[in-house]
Amino acid sequence: MTRILSVVSGKGGVGKTTLVSNLSASFVQVGKKVLVIDGNVTGSNLHIHLGIEAGDDLTTLNDVLEEKAFITQAIYRHPLGFSIIPASLSKLKFDEKEFDLKSHIFELLGDYDVILIDAAAGLGEEVQAAINSSDVSVIITNPDPASLVNALHTKKLLELKEKDIVGVVLNKVRGEKDEHDKNYVEEYVGLPVVCEIPYHHKIRRSVYKKKPIVESDPHLTPSRRMKTLAYKIVDEDVPKENLIEQLKIIIFNI
Ligand SMILES: Nc1ncnc2c1ncn2[C@@H]1O[C@H](COP(=O)(O)OP(=O)(O)OP(=O)(O)O)[C@@H](O)[C@H]1O
Ligand SMILES: [Mg+2]
Repeated sequence: MTRILSVVSGKGGVGKTTLVSNLSASFVQVGKKVLVIDGNVTGSNLHIHLGIEAGDDLTTLNDVLEEKAFITQAIYRHPLGFSIIPASLSKLKFDEKEFDLKSHIFELLGDYDVILIDAAAGLGEEVQAAINSSDVSVIITNPDPASLVNALHTKKLLELKEKDIVGVVLNKVRGEKDEHDKNYVEEYVGLPVVCEIPYHHKIRRSVYKKKPIVESDPHLTPSRRMKTLAYKIVDEDVPKENLIEQLKIIIFNI
């Protein structure tokens, strides 16, 4: 059965696209058939994280929503083994009547184990379309007050729509005094923190390298945390790290 998962946050820049691109690569490593959709149809950036060339001839989700193309025409194969539907780079506004993402995704049910949707920032039409199309959502936040307020609003919206929530991913954790810790976040948002991802300069760099960090630096803590989350989401046991991997982690403190 296909599982449709959206990554949402309310707030911009907290790490949705980073998480989506790393989960996509991780699900492939877990042996799943994966499709990732850029649900950010007025400000797409998934293709930047994943190195898709966005030429004029690219068929995008926007073309599908505008009924200029079939959804199958907008699916591209990524070298890491998943499929991707990019969104348009040039669209600034979108007519909400055109936002029937759910019925288009419906055509793909059964073709994939997991369909991941990278949602836009905010809680507007684009995000609502992503949520409406998914069975389950992950809320991602940073450990600062503004991100948490938006995470709480996102949770309320998901509850209003009676959608399942995997939990909260707490990203860009620096362990500093003036940031909220896991317990505070769980109490404030009212959901479990299912994954804590430290702030790491290599994540910023991975965007320039156009390669998810789970691929380029699989032993780093952020990579291992995102991979573990991927296993949790698809209800698979997390494999134990072998002795050499454990030693590398201890010696290099990664
Ligand atoms: N754990 C992390 N450590 C360091 N940098 C990070 C981390 N997570 C994300 N980033 C960086 O933060 C920036 C924003 O991340 P990203 O694009 O994934 O956010 P977003 O929520 O998708 O943003 P938007 O709302 O604009 O779509 C990127 O430069 C990314 O490399
Ligand atoms: Mg994004």
